[in-house]
Amino acid sequence: MSHAEDHEGTRRDFLYYATAGAGAVTAGAAVWPLVNQMNPSADVQALSSIRVDVAGIDPGTQLTVKWLGKPVFIRRRTEAEIETARQVELSQLIDTNAQNRNDMSLPATDQNRSLDEAGEWLVMIGVCTHLGCVPIGNGAGEFGGWFCPCHGSHYDTAGRIRKGPAPENLWIPVAEFVDETTIKLG
Ligand code: FES
Repeated sequence: MSHAEDHEGTRRDFLYYATAGAGAVTAGAAVWPLVNQMNPSADVQALSSIRVDVAGIDPGTQLTVKWLGKPVFIRRRTEAEIETARQVELSQLIDTNAQNRNDMSLPATDQNRSLDEAGEWLVMIGVCTHLGCVPIGNGAGEFGGWFCPCHGSHYDTAGRIRKGPAPENLWIPVAEFVDETTIKLG
């Protein structure tokens, strides 16, 4: 790795670790002033892949980060949320594709949408698949997951569309754990 690449990686890590340490709620807002000081090419490069420290997220809460211009919901689900999501049959779903950008051939089981095997972590692009509003989370809507108030789309605790005009489940971005408390997006 060249010195320049090494420096770039360090700066990215600094931006997002610093943000997560600031309170794990409005990471996007805290990040922008720093990013905006970079030149455009560095800006794009810095945002194509980010690392998010999720150590401070308690079960039943979520962190929203801004990535590639979009909100990304990182939710640490409760046992009840996981169980509710895993009891749903594919036949009950409007969209049976997991909409997981890691593998677009997967059916929409909860296991195919959650980031870890136990299903504690759910990472989704926070954009309603109807016309692009940002759904409300924390148990909103008739299925206890997310609700988009723009035209009334209800998503379940796995972020799958269950009622309303949205045609697709909330998208799962390319993401992975790179260590126990760090999720890499992109
Ligand atoms: S944009 Fe969400 S329901 Fe229309």
